[in-house]
Amino acid sequence: MASLKDEVLAKLAGVSGPDGAPLTATGKLSDIVVSDGKVFLSITVDADRVKQWESVRERAEKAVRAVPGVHSVMIALTAERAGGAGGAPPPRRPQMPTEGARPREGAPGAAQAPAGIPGVAAIIAVASGKGGVGKSTVAVNLALGLRDLGLKVGILDADIYGPSLPKLLAIRERPQTVGGTRLKPIVRHGLAVMSIGFLVEEETPMIWRGPMVMSALTQMLREVEWGTLDVMVVDMPPGTGDAQLTMAQQVPLKGAVIVSTPQDLALIDARRGIAMFRRVNVPVLGIVENMSTFICPHCGTRSDIFGHGGARHEAERLGVPFLGEVPLAIEIREKSDSGAPVVATDPDGPHTKIFRDIAARVRQGLAAESRPAPKIVIEA
Ligand SMILES: Nc1ncnc2c1ncn2[C@@H]1O[C@H](COP(=O)(O)OP(=O)(O)OP(=O)(O)O)[C@@H](O)[C@H]1O
Ligand SMILES: [Mg+2]
Repeated sequence: MASLKDEVLAKLAGVSGPDGAPLTATGKLSDIVVSDGKVFLSITVDADRVKQWESVRERAEKAVRAVPGVHSVMIALTAERAGGAGGAPPPRRPQMPTEGARPREGAPGAAQAPAGIPGVAAIIAVASGKGGVGKSTVAVNLALGLRDLGLKVGILDADIYGPSLPKLLAIRERPQTVGGTRLKPIVRHGLAVMSIGFLVEEETPMIWRGPMVMSALTQMLREVEWGTLDVMVVDMPPGTGDAQLTMAQQVPLKGAVIVSTPQDLALIDARRGIAMFRRVNVPVLGIVENMSTFICPHCGTRSDIFGHGGARHEAERLGVPFLGEVPLAIEIREKSDSGAPVVATDPDGPHTKIFRDIAARVRQGLAAESRPAPKIVIEA
């Protein structure tokens, strides 16, 4: 019996490229990833021929969608950089439509802001310039802290290359589809959760190009039944490169929370993160200092392993709110890594209080951002 991948290939062979050759003979197809009825692939094209290829992409998606057993299809166009300097650049505009986009004033290079998600009142990013500073841990516990304030909260794992939410929330099941095409988020501890990690096997090596990442993100934002949410927390991939900048532009963000450890190197990256969000006109709601102080669980002695207070000073210097300090605690690490986040499983503990206080400050910041600017009356 032919595998689903073979059937997809056979269908693609029936679609012709702009020059009439079968798509499979153009040498432009990426490897095809098939997982649980979901098909992902990209077509690499010359930047100046994107227009001709767009209709091919649409026909290819339609053809693959008709294969029995295929639930969803994502085919992205990848434009090679002029001069062929290696890897493809992330697109300035997504291949997926962003209908109803409204201009975000004053954002250089971002003439159009993406449309909001119906039913979702506010989307906030949790980001860091540097990897491994505890962004995903903070994102999950912040989302739970917002839940404890009585809000309806969702969390989206935008880290396509290294999704963490399946592990942090111990989710092993796969999301169900609604009406054949839309996905239902998985509900855990009262949070609506979506991650690319639910759709692909943990061991699958994901070599995704910029546009593919963007369409995966767009699908997780717009083709998921999020329902009515007060806040959606987006766990961003680390870094401040082109890919992150494009993401920050494509997600309709109300604000960003920056996570940093206290040492100088991490702070330099945090500064870059703040600059990136400012560039695309997304308000920075504040900085969280993570792994701030270590309190020995045996003797109670404090040690400032990575220094202490650096993020607070940096926040003051840059004129952004300081949201709080999360200590380096074995309990936080153990609970995070075993899928039982501290705010959900230790509701009366000291670390939960810290995350709830951070959540309260984030909500305050969001409320301030939503308030209309005061009218300035100039008297003649
Ligand atoms: N406050 C903390 N105390 C102790 N351990 C922590 C703390 N915050 C995070 N960790 C641990 O540090 C590791 C990295 O955390 P996490 O995965 O949240 O970081 P990240 O910034 O999202 O990483 P990546 O850049 O890979 O996405 C995990 O093992 C996590 O449990
Ligand atoms: Mg992470």
